[in-house]
Amino acid sequence: MTMPLPQGAPATLRDAFAHIGAVTAPTVLDVKVLALTEAAAMTLYYKTAEGTDNAAVRDLLHANGREEFLHAQRAALAVKAISGEDFFPPLAEDNPYLQDGGAPFAPVTAEALKGLAQGEFGGEALYEKWAVATDNAEAARLFRLNGKEETDHGNRLLQAAALL
Ligand SMILES: [Fe+2]
Ligand SMILES: [Fe+2]
Repeated sequence: MTMPLPQGAPATLRDAFAHIGAVTAPTVLDVKVLALTEAAAMTLYYKTAEGTDNAAVRDLLHANGREEFLHAQRAALAVKAISGEDFFPPLAEDNPYLQDGGAPFAPVTAEALKGLAQGEFGGEALYEKWAVATDNAEAARLFRLNGKEETDHGNRLLQAAALL
């Protein structure tokens, strides 16, 4: 069953990504929106991988995708750490941000993957900003674990781009 959007959350995945990118001091709602976008990012990577027959490129995209769901789980743990509220990231079929069929997939070209890589490097910077802004030590630790892996994602995307 589709998870209801948290009260006050952006309506679409695109808006949610834009919202998250602009937050400097996250509220609990922001961290929930983050969990939903990270969970959706797994699906985006898997769908993107369908756009190429290059097995090595697909493997790199899948590796990133799997970690995005781990990021969603860590974001959900951060919600719990900050607010005490149980929160669980949705699977793709239950994710409110994946219901409109309009999820943005990148074409598998070197150019597009290099562009995605820049977004991932920006992801580490954003997580660091959030870690500094939160006074909850456990949430900050979880943000930094995610952030470090966003840089790994960027490097995998550059590696994939070089294979095309
Ligand atoms: Fe992530
Ligand atoms: Fe990522």
